Amino acid sequence: MDIRNASTMEVCDTNYSKQADTDNFLSLPLYSPLPQQVAVVPDGTTPIEAARAITARNQGKEDWDETFMIGDLGMVLKHYKRWNRELPRVELFYALKANGLRPVVNTIAALGCGFDCASKNEMALALSCGVKPEKIIYAHTCKMMSHLTYARDHDVGLMTFDNKEELLKIKKIYPKASLVLRLKADDSKARMKFGDKFGAPFDYCKYLIKKAKDLDLDLIGISFHAGTGCPGLESIATAIEESRMLFEFAREVGFSFTLLDIGGGFPGTEETDKELPFETMAAIIRGELDKHFPEECGVRIIAEPGRYVPGRAFGLVTNISAKKVIKDRMIYQVNDCIFNSFFLCCLEYVRRTPVLLKSGKKKLHPTTVHGVTMSGVDIIEKDTLMEEAYVGDWLYWKDEGGYSALIRYGFNSFTMYKACYIISESEWKELQSVSLFPDLLPDGRDFI
Ligand SMILES: Cc1ncc(COP(=O)(O)O)c(C=O)c1O
Repeated sequence: MDIRNASTMEVCDTNYSKQADTDNFLSLPLYSPLPQQVAVVPDGTTPIEAARAITARNQGKEDWDETFMIGDLGMVLKHYKRWNRELPRVELFYALKANGLRPVVNTIAALGCGFDCASKNEMALALSCGVKPEKIIYAHTCKMMSHLTYARDHDVGLMTFDNKEELLKIKKIYPKASLVLRLKADDSKARMKFGDKFGAPFDYCKYLIKKAKDLDLDLIGISFHAGTGCPGLESIATAIEESRMLFEFAREVGFSFTLLDIGGGFPGTEETDKELPFETMAAIIRGELDKHFPEECGVRIIAEPGRYVPGRAFGLVTNISAKKVIKDRMIYQVNDCIFNSFFLCCLEYVRRTPVLLKSGKKKLHPTTVHGVTMSGVDIIEKDTLMEEAYVGDWLYWKDEGGYSALIRYGFNSFTMYKACYIISESEWKELQSVSLFPDLLPDGRDFI
C-alpha cells in the first residue's frame, strides 16, 4: 500500500499556511493551502497505518516534530450510520464543540445533520460550511448578549435557556426565538457533570414555563444533558419521564410543545464504548422514548452528541523530545501537553495508552509520559506500559477526535493545530452517494 501523499495538513491559523508542492506534501512542513482536502486511500487503511507511513517517511528530519492529528472521515460516516440504525427517531445535532475541524463539519453537514452551537464563532463556522440556520440549535443556556444578537441577525432561532434572566434577555433581543427549556438531569454518577452549571430543577422549570407564557415567548420544548460517561442510564430515563410531565404541565399553561432534546454524552472512545456500549444506551433510550413519547404523539426528538461523532475517527501523533530512565522506569517528554490536546483526558480521568509507531522490541516497561510545558503538573500519563522508545520516535494516541483539537496556543505557546484526513475508496463513494448536500463535502484527492 502506498499512501505516500496521505497527508493534507490543516493548520487552524491560516496565517501559517504556506504554498505547498501538492504532489509532495510529506517533504514539506505540515502546512497546506488546501485544508479541505481528504486523501482517498485504499480500503482497510487505518489512521494508525497512515500515521506510521507519514512519520516513517519523515523520520529523522530535524524540523519535523510537531504534534498532528490524523482523521478518518469514513469513521464519521460509520458513526452517523450507527446512530441512524440504533436511534432512527432521534435527529442528530452534532455538538460542534467536540471537534470543529472543517472537513469534519463539512462531512456532517453534507449528511444533512443538524448542529449544536454554543457561541457566535461556532454558529459562524457552521453557517460558513453551508449549514442552514434552521439546522442549528444555539444550546448555551446563558448567552452573551452579542452572541444572541448574532443569532438573531443570522436567523438561528432555536435556542435553550434555564433561568428567568435569560428569558428577559431573549425577550428584549430576540423575542421571536423558539425556546427550549433545559431541565437539570441527575448527573451525579457521570464522569463529566453539567448540573452544577446548567439546567433548571424540575419545580423551577414549572415556574419558567409560566414566566415564558407571561412574557408571550414561543416556548416549544424541553432539553436535558445527563452528563458524559454515565455508568447507568437511570438518569436519562428519569429525565425523559420528567420531560413528559413538563410537556403535560405546559399544555395546562397553554403551550403545545413539539420538541424534545435528549442532549449528548454518548461514548467517544473504545474504552467508554466498552463501559456502556452505544447499542445498550440506544436500546434503553428507544424504550423510554416509546413509553413516554410514542411515535404517534408527533413530538420531534433531537440529540446533541459531541464526542460520539468524531471521537474514534482521529488519532493524535506526538513526538518524543526527551527521555530519562530512572531505575526501571522510562520517562518520556512529548511535544504536546495537558493544556492542549490532552486537557480533557486529565479533567475526565480517562487513561490513555500510547502506541510506539516504530515498533521494535516487544518488551514492555513501566512508562511515564510528560507534557512539553514547564508546568510541574503537566503529566499526561503517570503509569503505563510501553515498549522502549527513543528521542525522535512518534507515539500514536487513538480515539482523540473529541475535544483534543480545540486549542490553538496554549501554555508556553506550544500549540498550532494541524490535521490530515483520509477516507477509504469505498467509503468515499458511499459518502458521496448518501450525502444530501454533496457540494458541502470536502474535496477528495486520489492519492492511491
Ligand atoms: C449542551 C451540550 N450538549 C452536548 C454536549 C456534548 O457532550 P458529549 O461530547 O459528551 O456528547 C455538551 C458538552 O459540553 C453540552 O454542553
